[in-house]
Amino acid sequence: DKTLFFIAGGLGQLGMGLAEMLRKQYGTDNVILSDIKKPPPHIFRSGPFVYADVLDYKHLRELIINNQITWLVHYSALLSAVGEANVALARKINITGLHNVLDLALENCLRLFVPSTIGAFGPSSPRDPVPDLCVQRPRTIYGVSKVHGELMGEYLHHKHGLDFRCLRYPGVISVNTPPGGGTTDYAVQIFHDALSTGHHECYLRPDTRLPMMHISDCHRATVEFMQAPECQLSLRTYNIAAMSFTPEEVAQEIRKHLPQLKVTYSPDSVRQTIADSWPVRFDDSNARRDWGWAPAFGLEELVSDMLHTIRSKRTSEGLHVNSL
Ligand SMILES: NC(=O)c1ccc[n+]([C@@H]2O[C@H](COP(=O)([O-])OP(=O)(O)OC[C@H]3O[C@@H](n4cnc5c(N)ncnc54)[C@H](O)[C@@H]3O)[C@@H](O)[C@H]2O)c1
Repeated sequence: DKTLFFIAGGLGQLGMGLAEMLRKQYGTDNVILSDIKKPPPHIFRSGPFVYADVLDYKHLRELIINNQITWLVHYSALLSAVGEANVALARKINITGLHNVLDLALENCLRLFVPSTIGAFGPSSPRDPVPDLCVQRPRTIYGVSKVHGELMGEYLHHKHGLDFRCLRYPGVISVNTPPGGGTTDYAVQIFHDALSTGHHECYLRPDTRLPMMHISDCHRATVEFMQAPECQLSLRTYNIAAMSFTPEEVAQEIRKHLPQLKVTYSPDSVRQTIADSWPVRFDDSNARRDWGWAPAFGLEELVSDMLHTIRSKRTSEGLHVNSL
């Protein structure tokens, strides 16, 4: 049978790149992107796009049935910092939206991928490294909703055989798509600042260590995990890791290319408190063993790639670029 993908919340930092990767393997028309906002023209032209609100159960069901969807990727969410600023909306999108998606997946025998996060852990979890299975008492509505998603998906897998798959992503670093209001967003902004003004004001303390990943590793992990044969999976929710760094360490690595980069620190209490409750390193040994996960980008490769890509982008847009 044909594999047909539907990506909900697909116009954020991660959905468009995942659609591109899936379309290369499965064909453009077999991957439908959806969101509640208007796609940029090049995305609208790049393949099927539909409006879909995960809070509108009936409309979502219509789309899934009419398009014969087999794989649902649920990316819609309010991220950590934005969620804390609007708890009621985060609860709606992250919990009610998830329930709609789970019900639809069960009803229509869909396979379901839902990402989780480092934010699914809290101050009482082991932090260095955090294993797949341990105490999870997050202190943000984002984290609470993600733990709920992990547990609901696993429950429905064990009770009804739902093919639920979940990866806990680290902070994802990308050039072309801006981050959506998470706690790790500084690690994208610092590259843009390094090449434009040469000054980055960081909202975290210099020694705040968090797990991070290049976006291409994140997309590849997602596709490889979705394709992994059922018999290889000993878990339904896996940590995936690539690197862990502090603001000061990423700044030092950038200075190897741009020695004049200046970073000042002005910790924001909301995001610093969130970061301090998160793991500093992910133990992803189960993902490596079960389905062969291996990242391609470490800190050095990430910094070279980000600077190279942003420099080319700014140059082609006629913008000023700092150089050595
Ligand atoms: N980006 C990261 O660093 C990161 C890290 C860990 C986990 N994740 C998870 O990956 C997923 C995608 O993250 P992202 O960075 O692309 O997020 P994002 O905030 O950039 O995008 C989320 C998208 O969801 C859409 N959305 C909001 N309400 C909706 C609704 N009612 N119906 C349908 N769509 C709606 C938004 O318009 C937005 O385009 C999320 O579940 C997030 O929790 C991301």
